Order: sequence, then C-alpha cells, then structure tokens
Amino acid sequence: MASSPGRAVSFLALSLMLLEALRCCSCSQVYVVYMGKGLLGNSDRQYDILTALHHKMLTAVHDGSSEKAQASHVYTYSSGFQGFAAKLSKEQATKLAEMPGVVSVFPNTKRRLCTTHSWDFMGLSTDAEGEVPGLSTKNQENVIVGFIDTGIWPESPSFSDHGMSPVPKKWRGQCQIGEENSPSNFTCNRKIIGGRYYLNGYQTEEGGSSKNAIKFISPRDSSGHGSHTASITAGRFVRNMNYGGLGTGGGRGGAPMARIAAYKACWDSGCYDVDILAAFNDAIRDGVDIISVSLGPDYPQGDYFSDAISIGSFHATSNGILVVSSAGNAGRQGSAINLAPWMLTVAAGATDRSFASYVRLANGTFIMGESLSTYHMKTSIRTIPASEANAGYFTPYQSRTKARGNILICRHNEGSSQSRVSMSMNVKEAGAAGMILIDEMGDHVANHFAVPGTAVGQAMGDKILSYLKTTRHARTMILPAKTIFGVRDAPLVAAFSSRGPSSLTPEILKPDVAAPGLNILAAWSPAKNNMHFNILSGTSMACPHVTGIAALVKSVYPSWSPSAIKSAIMTTATVLNSKGKTIPRDPDGRAATPFDFGSGFMDPIKALNPGIIFDAQPEDYKSFLCAISHDDHSLHLITGDNCTCTHKASSSATALNYPSITIPYLKKSYSVTRTMTNVGNARSTYIAVVSAPRGINVTVTPEVLNFENYGVKRKFTVSFHVDVPPRGYVFGSLSWHENGRDARLTMPLVVKVLTSDKA
Ligand SMILES: *[C@@H]1O[C@H](CO)[C@@H](O)[C@H](O)[C@H]1NC(C)=O
Ligand SMILES: *[C@@H]1O[C@H](CO)[C@@H](O)[C@H](O)[C@H]1NC(C)=O
Ligand SMILES: *[C@@H]1O[C@H](CO)[C@@H](O)[C@H](O)[C@H]1NC(C)=O
Ligand SMILES: *[C@@H]1O[C@H](CO)[C@@H](O)[C@H](O)[C@H]1NC(C)=O
Repeated sequence: MASSPGRAVSFLALSLMLLEALRCCSCSQVYVVYMGKGLLGNSDRQYDILTALHHKMLTAVHDGSSEKAQASHVYTYSSGFQGFAAKLSKEQATKLAEMPGVVSVFPNTKRRLCTTHSWDFMGLSTDAEGEVPGLSTKNQENVIVGFIDTGIWPESPSFSDHGMSPVPKKWRGQCQIGEENSPSNFTCNRKIIGGRYYLNGYQTEEGGSSKNAIKFISPRDSSGHGSHTASITAGRFVRNMNYGGLGTGGGRGGAPMARIAAYKACWDSGCYDVDILAAFNDAIRDGVDIISVSLGPDYPQGDYFSDAISIGSFHATSNGILVVSSAGNAGRQGSAINLAPWMLTVAAGATDRSFASYVRLANGTFIMGESLSTYHMKTSIRTIPASEANAGYFTPYQSRTKARGNILICRHNEGSSQSRVSMSMNVKEAGAAGMILIDEMGDHVANHFAVPGTAVGQAMGDKILSYLKTTRHARTMILPAKTIFGVRDAPLVAAFSSRGPSSLTPEILKPDVAAPGLNILAAWSPAKNNMHFNILSGTSMACPHVTGIAALVKSVYPSWSPSAIKSAIMTTATVLNSKGKTIPRDPDGRAATPFDFGSGFMDPIKALNPGIIFDAQPEDYKSFLCAISHDDHSLHLITGDNCTCTHKASSSATALNYPSITIPYLKKSYSVTRTMTNVGNARSTYIAVVSAPRGINVTVTPEVLNFENYGVKRKFTVSFHVDVPPRGYVFGSLSWHENGRDARLTMPLVVKVLTSDKA
C-alpha cells in the first residue's frame, strides 16, 4: 500500500483520472503521416486528388495491394493541414517518411487529460451574463470555443441555452448524434452548438481489449473531464453549485455567454494523436475562434512536427485561432509541456479558498489538511503508518488484521504509480477506518477518499509522524472538510504544476501564465459517480480559466490575432500576491519564478484593456522555425508557400516578438528587439523601468516610446551585459509605465550566463 517506485504519473487533472499507459502489443501500430498545410476552402476535386495520393502512397508500402492499403487506413486529414493516419509496420513507416511531400511520420502516442469562486477571487465580478462593467462583452455570443476533450453532458444546467440568440452564421460545424447503442439523443442547442467524436484511433489501438471502455459512441461525456473544463470557460450561471455541501454558492464560467463546440477525442483511458489531429482539423474548418486543450504528452515532449498538439495548434494559429493548453502536472523543473510558441500554455495555482479537514491529535493539537471528505468521525481512532500494517507480516490476511479499524498514514510522492483515489480504495479494502495522506506533490490538493480521509504536506505529515513516536497508542480524529476562505496569502503556484525552462526551445519561456487550478468546482457528467458537479485539481482546470478570458478579450476585440490576445493576457498578469509579495510556490513556499508562473497570475480585468500588445503573424512563426533549423523543404510543406529561410545564420529563436524575453546562453552581451503595438489611448507615452536579473546589466533603447495614434508600432531593444556572472538562471522584469503612472505592462526577463567550461 505504501507507494511503489516507478514512473512518475502526471495527469493534467489530478483526481479520478485513472489512466494507465498502454503499450502496443503487435508489431504494427498506427502512425501519423504529416504532410503539411491543408486545403482549407478548396474544392472537392482537390480533396479527391489528395485522398487518391494518400491511397497511392499507402498502396506502395503494401506491396501494391490496394485492399491492404484500404484496410490499414484510419483517417484522412485535408482541411487545416494534410496527411493521413494508418496502421503500419515500422518498415512501412520508414518508407513513407522518405517519400516526397512528407514532413514527418510518428507513432500514435496516447495523451493524458492532464466555480466559481475562482472568478470572484480574480476580481472578475460580472453579472450572470458575464458583462464586465465599463466594457462591452455583449459580443460573447459570437465567440465560439472548441474543446478537445472527453465530450460534454448537454443537459447540465451549466450548458443551458436559456435566453441565447440564434447560432452565429459563420458556424459551419455539426452535431453528431452518435451510434444507436449509445443514448442516441445527444443534442446541441444555442449554447453547445457543435459536437463531434473521434473513435478510429482509440478503437484501432484498444478496440478488442477494452470495448466496454468505449462509453457513449457520441459526443456525450462519460468521464466528466470535458464537462468540467467547458463549464470553467463558458458555463452559464448556476445558482446553487456545490459538491456534497462544499464550495456552495453561485458558479459560472469566465465567458458564460460564449458558444461551445465539443470535440470528443478523449475516451475513458486517454486520447490518441490521430483522433486529436482529426479534431483539430474539423475545428479549424468549422470556424471556432479559440481551442482549449487540457491534455498533453508526457515530458519531455517530441519536437514540434512530430507532436499532434503542436501540429494541430500551428495550423489553428495560422488560421487565426488561438490555442490555449495546460503546462502539465509533473511539478519538476524542465517538465513543462505544450512548448510551441504559438500556444498559450498555462500553469496552475491556488485561490484563497480551502477545503480544510483537520486532524486532531489526541494531545489536543489540530493539524490542517485538505479533503473533499465530509464524513463525521465520532471518536479518536488508533493511528499507524501504513508501512507498519504491511511490514513484518507474511500474508495479506495478517496485514489486513493489523489495518482493520485503524487510521492509516500513507504517502503519495512523485514515484507513486497509484492514484490517490485508488490508494484510498486499498485502504478501505484493508478494513481501515480512515486515512491520512502525506502528499508532497499534491500539497493543498483536496482529494476524494473512499474512507474518511485528509491530505497534508510533508511538513505537517512529519509532525503527525513525530506525534506517533511520542506515544504507544497514538490516536487521531479526522474532522469533516469545510469550506474556508483566506487561510493563506493567495494566490500561490501549485506543487504539481510543471515548470520551465522549455526542454525544446529554451529561448521561449514556458509556461506563459498561471491561473487557478486547485480544487475547482465545476460541471460534471452524471454518468460518472452520478454527480452533477465535482471538484478537481490540475493544469487541466487552469487552462480553461485562461480560455474563458481569451474568449472575453476576443468578444471585445473581434479582429485581434491569436498572439494579440495571448499578449494581452500575459503582459497584464501579476507576480504579486494580496500582501504585495512575490507569489510563492508549493510545497516549500519559496518565491515563485517565471519558470513557475511565466508572466504571472492572470488578471482578467487588466487583460481586457492591455494598452499595448506584442503581435506575431504566421510569418513570424515561420522565421522562428527557420531559426531552430527546420530545413527549407519541410518548411515549404508545413506553410504551403515558397518562403525560404533567408536570414538563417543571423536569426535566432529569441527574435520572435514574444511577450517575454529569455536568453539561455548569454556570453558577454546580447540584444533583442521587440515591437509594441498601441491598442490603448491614441496619444500615449510609455517609459521603460527595468528590474535587472542579478549580475546582469540591462539597458533599454529607447527608454521612452511615444505613440500618436491607435495601431502605431514602435520598436525597442533590450541589451544584456554580463557584469558579475551569476550561476544558473536569473530573473528580472521590464515594465512600461504609461504617462508616468503605474506599470501598464510587464515582461519577464530570464537569463543564463554560459560559463566558459561549457562554451
Ligand atoms: C437523453 O439521454 C440522457 C442520458 O441517457 C437521459 O438522461 C435523458 O433523459 C435523455 N433525454 C431524452 C429527451 O430522451
Ligand atoms: C502534540 O504533539 C505534536 C507532535 O509531536 C507537538 O508538535 C505538539 O506540540 C503537541 N501538543 C501538545 C499540546 O503537547
Ligand atoms: C512556388 O514557386 C513555383 C516555382 O517558382 C511556382 O510555380 C509556384 O506557383 C509557387 N507557389 C507558391 C505558393 O507561391
Ligand atoms: C554594469 O553596471 C555597473 C553600475 O552601473 C557598472 O559599474 C559596470 O561597469 C557595468 N558592467 C558592464 C559589464 O557593463
């Protein structure tokens, strides 16, 4: 029962998601053959030419057999990007990779799925329609958000279309009803305007073995994750939302009037690349404005063009669609995922709300833990470490006897292969009366327990263990969880939230921004545990918070590019907590850095009026790809034009007009240039204020930028000089103050000096 060593598990939602890594067992498996830009808006005839070409390529690797080619085919991708998915041997995959027109061939990897008090906490006090005083977000009903997730539960009160206007004319999507053996009544309304599902990849990989895991062959959500994320972004106001009495109050999404399109590419045990790509392809063609993906690969992720989410989001961005994603739940330095600069990548933090469940030691001391268990324990109960129940006993029967009737203290750490919920199920099976979980990675995460239980961090856990040593018959009592506010200085970054630097392109800071992702109450699928609302934690929950604000920004500024919306959210984020100190990070409470929270914690109100944006166009992402040495040939296929990497030698990934600056290999000195676009007051002056990273001199030229009109662009250069070489990464910031007032926007500065022995 004590945690077993093994691979770190990293769900983007921490609770209830029991996804196990599955290995391919036969020698042939599904591959993605990615062939670059698609045919959006082109004719049926061109589509036919494309499918014929794909068929010809497949026939060639199947020794000329058209039937075998047909049988191996899984999907054709044609609109946002093109290529296909097919079941192939390793040799066939290698042959296809060498054919002209192919950018990459990669195996079909399985991905993990990684209130609304959170909105009030962030100061977004709107009415039930999500109107922000002083700004017109009426246009929300024209913003369509696509969710690539586990589907949706359309009857949830969070997705009511009461009082909504007809579906926008631009919408080209569909509502797939599903197959007969499912509840075949999946219906869309004016709130959920689209629903599609993608089963081919999942079925090809797991078909025979897990038929019963395929629940609802329709866009209907059987696992809850998709309904949860969609309602965080765009759920309607629900008067009495709670989970077993916890978190009671009105709850809604960030953009409660925005439209939802559900793309169900994830099934009970996870999501496959080929299905995710098909979902992106449809979402691009259907006309969504924003795509939210609360899922991702294990770290380290593959390079940009052999990773389904990077490919899908590249083409989405090229078509004017912002993609918001989660940074992962692996906690460690360098474990951040969804690293492409065209995505907005979100870290998870906590608000000032806790679900506190105290442990009362028999000596009268109370220790605060967190839990979703509301069970009332009547008396104190004998308490032993789980290791004691296991160790020294020869049979499961004996260890069960030892556990029976007691409270067990268990540990969950990075190496634990078992989920927290299933640990508590084992505790229940052993006949124990309760469970205290010492959970370093999940510090402050409120869990579901199968027995009365609570979770504490390492420090509090040590305190309980030391109490156990002071007495022969230690007893404790676990008090039921209750909702409390203001117990900590908020916000803080969650222990599980994955950190930078980027393992792929260290010149781009990831994650980009942080948002609430701890103990979030939102809609659920009643097919799972018969609950209509649930509380979950993970970067999966942080991502849709940012998606919601992106939808509000899009409603106020319909013409803004994906990078403009992203810039608005990043540059207005805050790195300070309610006491004016740098936001700390769990579990140790030290000051967080840009590797933890990127530009900082999202500020919804400021994001709606950023004053300045750092814009980037598809051209700029091409230059970025040139700089990280994608060859001309692949680049042509990806972008579908004749651009060449002309300035290759001189360009660098740091040149992308990104709202943060990272110099990972600083020798003596280095300069980067950024371009600001005025979207605030027509006449305005911005003054640079630098907080230099330790040991680095930073100068900004010019230090003063004048804008005489809306839309005017101005360049500035930031020069870094090593003064006293610091060890490791050092952090600073560059703020721009408008007309001598407070900082209007801030960008993080991240520097690492290249020491001579590594040069
Ligand atoms: C649709 O299916 C759901 C789930 O099975 C069920 O709860 C609901 O009553 C059905 N609605 C209609 C109108 O048949
Ligand atoms: C109870 O035990 C804990 C852990 O050993 C200790 O920190 C605490 O001071 C004790 N309380 C009292 C009142 O003795
Ligand atoms: C690329 O160049 C070729 C040859 O110069 C030309 O035929 C083709 O039309 C060009 N394609 C595009 C998309 O510009
Ligand atoms: C950095 O700034 C300090 C203080 O202005 C100055 O003394 C020092 O020479 C500068 N170092 C470099 C390398 O420019």
